[in-house]
Amino acid sequence: MNLLNEIGEDFPEAISFAAGKPFEGFLSLDSVHEYLDAFRARLTGRLGMSEEQVARRVLQYGSARGIINDLVARHLEVDERIRVSPEEIVVTSGCQEALYLVLRALRGRSGDAVLTVRPTYSGLDAAAQLVDMPVLSVDEPADGIDGAHLTRAVDEARGQGYRPRALYVMPDFANPTGRSLTLEARESLLAAAAECGILLLEDNPYGNFGPEGEHLPTLKSLDQSRCVVYLGSFAKSGLPGARVGYVVADQNVTEGDRSGSLLADQITRLKGMLSINTSPIAQAVIGGKILLNDFSLRRANERERAVYQENLECLLVSFEENFPEVHGERLHGVSFNTPRGGFFISVTLPFASTDDILRLCGEKYGVLWTPMHHFHGDGIPRNEIRFAFSHLSREQIRLGVQRFSAFVADHADR
Ligand SMILES: Cc1ncc(COP(=O)(O)O)c(C=O)c1O
Repeated sequence: MNLLNEIGEDFPEAISFAAGKPFEGFLSLDSVHEYLDAFRARLTGRLGMSEEQVARRVLQYGSARGIINDLVARHLEVDERIRVSPEEIVVTSGCQEALYLVLRALRGRSGDAVLTVRPTYSGLDAAAQLVDMPVLSVDEPADGIDGAHLTRAVDEARGQGYRPRALYVMPDFANPTGRSLTLEARESLLAAAAECGILLLEDNPYGNFGPEGEHLPTLKSLDQSRCVVYLGSFAKSGLPGARVGYVVADQNVTEGDRSGSLLADQITRLKGMLSINTSPIAQAVIGGKILLNDFSLRRANERERAVYQENLECLLVSFEENFPEVHGERLHGVSFNTPRGGFFISVTLPFASTDDILRLCGEKYGVLWTPMHHFHGDGIPRNEIRFAFSHLSREQIRLGVQRFSAFVADHADR
């Protein structure tokens, strides 16, 4: 991804569909003060702490498990109907750290591996690389992975001598494809995971950003057998610069010298060794935002959700207009999927997309996107690319797709 950042920096004038960053129009430093005040008022008011105790809680080194676990637990109950206790949550420096810690906790011996659908979030490959854990790919069918696919993948991995510990999955508006799983697929995945004795690592940064009234239950809220470890990020629903995320790990550890203890305890111990604790100031900011919105970040993000939905609509319409369908095929053989929410869509080109072609597209046509091979972990160029639409204005989206269509027209028949 560093390479992609460099390409972005080389062409600052280009319209970038590459970065999946949150919309910046509502970011405000003033809100940080309001959030901090709300958190402070809760500690002094409801919890009866003195100013000195509050200062210590927010400004001193803190607990490795976190200082806003009760607020996160309540938020999960309100927004996702996930019922867990604060001790089963570990607050982390972004979801990325949570991913690393979970994999580190699961990696007991050589041969332990993590399964993932492909293409997948590249941060999974990065975390697995750091803990030296093989990532086994499961090609995702167009209508999403289900229990039967999982069972087959687990059997295959075991046949090859691996011990698959978990499947990493994003059921809602996945990065990079924008795909979501149906309710049936969610239920069959849960049944298969329990049957196979593996965990599901559910990563859910984009679940808030779908159409009103279409929210499907998370795997964790359906989880009867404690086989789901839930990874949360406040980057998209809280504040990206706070770098706060968390993991819900209510499983019992079944092997090693920690056998019988809670997975969240083991992760807390690792977290203490890695980064001591998540910045309490940053946690207080996120905690205040949760408090000021009656524990609902879904409610807090109504404006953002509207922007993302409008941007998605604008992007799809722009693609329809620039790549019209004639006799069942779109102009230049381009196709694209039509997710209902999130930050991303997947576009298929009539030629393979390499980093060199991306660079040329940025330089000559003033538009950037992400080649899909970055999400396959093998560097083999593919015809698919990712378009992120979250941080752009609708004018930029319309102009960007026009520029992109000129690029495709010049390259399609070479
Ligand atoms: C699927 C997914 N998981 C995790 C992350 C990282 O989250 P955080 O910024 O909280 O570390 C991202 C960031 O883009 C993501 O897309």
